[in-house]
Amino acid sequence: MDTTTSAVHVVAIPSPGRGHINPMMNLCKLLASSDDSLLITFVVTEEWLGFIGSAPTPPNIRLRSIPNVIPSELVRGADLAGFVEAVYTKMEAPFERLLEELEPKVSCIVADTYLSWALTVGKRLNVAVASLWPMAPSMFSISYHFDLLKSNGHFPIDDLSGERGEERVNYIPGISSIRLADLPFVSAKKGEAALGRVLGAISLSTESQSLLFTSFHGIENHVIDSLRTKIRIPIYYVGPTIPYMTLQDMPQKAMEHPNPDYFDWLDSQPKSSVLYVSLGSFLSVSGPQMDEIANGLQASGVRFLWVARGDATRLQEGSNMGLVVPWCDQLRVLCHSSVGGFLTHCGWNSTMESVYAGVPMLTFPLLWDQITNAKLIVEDWKVGLRLKQEVGEKNVVRRQEIAQTVKRFMDLDGDESGELRRRAREMKEICEKAIKKGGSSETNLRAFFKEIVQGHK
Ligand code: UDX
Repeated sequence: MDTTTSAVHVVAIPSPGRGHINPMMNLCKLLASSDDSLLITFVVTEEWLGFIGSAPTPPNIRLRSIPNVIPSELVRGADLAGFVEAVYTKMEAPFERLLEELEPKVSCIVADTYLSWALTVGKRLNVAVASLWPMAPSMFSISYHFDLLKSNGHFPIDDLSGERGEERVNYIPGISSIRLADLPFVSAKKGEAALGRVLGAISLSTESQSLLFTSFHGIENHVIDSLRTKIRIPIYYVGPTIPYMTLQDMPQKAMEHPNPDYFDWLDSQPKSSVLYVSLGSFLSVSGPQMDEIANGLQASGVRFLWVARGDATRLQEGSNMGLVVPWCDQLRVLCHSSVGGFLTHCGWNSTMESVYAGVPMLTFPLLWDQITNAKLIVEDWKVGLRLKQEVGEKNVVRRQEIAQTVKRFMDLDGDESGELRRRAREMKEICEKAIKKGGSSETNLRAFFKEIVQGHK
């Protein structure tokens, strides 16, 4: 690690949460591997140090922390509005103090778009700030054009469950025709303060030195092209930011799992027969909904590997077709040849990992960007099917719906599922093209690196 005063030194700060830390760390790994002399200081709140510290990190990435300024019950997702407020108001001061102490001189800060205060810190300390949006560019564009929704009478909307939700919006630049029900925040009333924070941060991000997206050319070109005509700073799409270099370069290491049981089980299953089920890293559904999923999966007769986190022990009982675990190495599970489908909450990282692995998705979005991501998966890319909530019972997907749709989705002889698998393979190829040497994401990453180096001189 080069810690001399001449080293190019990037400070990366993700928003607290795996869905934000993972893509930021993966971006850093990609940058770190492009030049050994680059030094990256990766900053998290203290409680995340253990989680990151246990994963292999290149020598030119060092970890630093700021105190736990966000109450841990907020980090676990109990109060999302409170979490958002804490992220926007409590991290700035300790981050600035840390930055003032860091050696060598900082060349550039890469901050999660949510952390808009990093721009103020950068200005005060005269350090350039790049903004990383670790979600879909489509979500960015919809949020960026929020005023259009208001002026068209599409915010706020009281009830999206009936015909109103089916109404189509065709005026958001770069976004193909989209149902009102697929726009995550048009019915947001309770969360208006949090929404205001997020929209404010998105708007401020255009004052950064550059904007990075964890998507890739070939899947969201229209959005990125249209944003480029409006936003005057460089926009780089560098996704999917997954540690594909680690997967490719270290096959032996990849086999060293701390808990290989579920891999043993996967190894013993027929090709493409297993449905992988996960609703992300921190959100949960109600007990009755968990029971509907458990019963639906059992009744489908399909093999499954289910990450049920806190509920894993309770659900393990009585399951003969599947395995329920509290956590898994998701990317490697998705890349396992026995896995043929992913029942997902459509978090952006899960979505990109599934696309990378060439696995079709069964969508079960819970909130926010996941709702729009589900639309991209099903309507735009055609690599997935929706699980439908029962009309009038918001957020409940019934066991019969789960059983029938899972069966259809995982049918190895079905035309519909066959077409989904074909499309997923096609998307995987587009993704591989983007990340290989000379591909769009790789080229964008190099251009961003050059920008940092030039700014350092
Ligand atoms: C959050 C938001 O909820 C999501 O909407 C947004 O797009 C990103 O930030 P999260 O809900 O955790 O993320 O979902 P996701 O984006 O899918 O990220 C989860 C990460 O945890 C993925 O990288 C996934 O590989 C990892 N994971 C999850 C595991 O490694 N193992 C698991 O068992 C479950």
